[in-house]
Amino acid sequence: MAKDTGVTATLTFGDTTVTMPMSRPTLGPDVVDIRKLYAEADIFTYDPGFTSTASCESAITYIDGDKGELLYRGYPIEQLADKSSFVEVCYLLIYGELPTAEQLKDFTDRVTNHTMLHEQMVNFFRGFRRDAHPMAIVCGVVGAMSAFYHDSTDIFDPWQREVATIRLIAKIPTIVAWAYKYHVGQPFVYPQNHMSYAENFLHMCFSVPAQEYKVDPILTRAMDRIFTLHADHEQNASTSTVRLAGSSQANPFACIAAGVACLWGPAHGGANQACLEMLREIGTVDRIPEYIARAKDKSDPFRLMGFGHRVYKNFDPRAKVMKESADEVLGLLGIEDNPTLQVAKELERIALEDPYFVEKKLYPNVDFYSGIILDAIGFPTSMFTPIFALARTAGWISQWKEMIADPSQKIGRPRQLYTGAAHRDYVSVAER
Ligand code: ACO
Repeated sequence: MAKDTGVTATLTFGDTTVTMPMSRPTLGPDVVDIRKLYAEADIFTYDPGFTSTASCESAITYIDGDKGELLYRGYPIEQLADKSSFVEVCYLLIYGELPTAEQLKDFTDRVTNHTMLHEQMVNFFRGFRRDAHPMAIVCGVVGAMSAFYHDSTDIFDPWQREVATIRLIAKIPTIVAWAYKYHVGQPFVYPQNHMSYAENFLHMCFSVPAQEYKVDPILTRAMDRIFTLHADHEQNASTSTVRLAGSSQANPFACIAAGVACLWGPAHGGANQACLEMLREIGTVDRIPEYIARAKDKSDPFRLMGFGHRVYKNFDPRAKVMKESADEVLGLLGIEDNPTLQVAKELERIALEDPYFVEKKLYPNVDFYSGIILDAIGFPTSMFTPIFALARTAGWISQWKEMIADPSQKIGRPRQLYTGAAHRDYVSVAER
């Protein structure tokens, strides 16, 4: 619970003065509680894009954009990426504490026991056009889970909420891997319960009946780190979408499908695909100045993908870890001289020295290097955003659970600043 500071904020306009309580979070700026503003003063606040508005109280993730700090339940992301595993991070996000050895084993067993999909869901995959984008498939299949798992859709039953949580975390790798298999026209590979979460995902993606696929432990580690780095990120667009959908008491599968849909956009999760495509389009280091000039040109809508962030105005801590992972993976695969990586490194160097990017505090974000790793592992660009969705499912469902259990939760219903026509009378078509 946020603490009441005992301090109030006063808003005066014309003859009216309104006094509002202020709350103090554990970390971050104090918050003015404007909930009674409309009732007491008959005015709305205006904040498109929620740049200054806290939409909820949350104890899961904290970002300090100026310091370049990201904490999951208080733990720095660098420590978790280095020492923990994605499954442990899922436990931390959902339940709030790091698990004991016994709790971790029990949680891992529960996740592992739910990795298969209802066999009828195979037909659902087959209904998509064969050239469907895997994000379209993931969005559709996650939403369809509500039609297959009725026994975990009652949001007022804590046990059903728990089962839905485990099901989503357990089945999302199978859904994403099968979206990929369908996309490339290969047979679906069933989950293997003796494998770790990341290893099983890579196996379901790259194994074929004709040939044994041995998952490299370095690639497994890189995959697991990508999952950890993308697991949650506070009240971003897709998480807010999940919360908004959930605020109407929609079932958890429908809410997560809404999150997948929002994540798809190139300004959010789709940036990793757009970034690698941009690096390839640039192609060689000598063409970088042309693209930097385009990014600065106000008459050109082009933006340097993988640069900039709404919250990080110093650096994105995830990008640092991702860069280390990229070096490790490309080193293992013996492709350090990968031309895309050369372009990425040089683009980063030039942009970080360029006054336009320095003044606007535009730094590489998590997506700048993740695409290079996923490409090296063997994924096509169309799979980058589905992989992000896989990882973010952990954060979405944690935030959804937190919201449902919050007694102050209400249906999300923003107000508007109406600029349309004032009242007017209907004119029949013959008289227009
Ligand atoms: N390239 C060039 N200029 C940029 C970029 C960029 N990537 N990002 C922002 N700017 C400029 C804008 O033109 C604007 O300039 P102005 O003040 O002269 O008008 C200024 O920086 C501020 O930009 P906004 O769009 O207002 O910043 P906002 O916080 O709304 O946007 C966003 C953040 C959407 C991430 C933006 O930086 C962007 O489009 N980046 C590229 C897409 C991307 O990489 N998205 C991934 C985000 S991370 C994630 O979702 C996991």
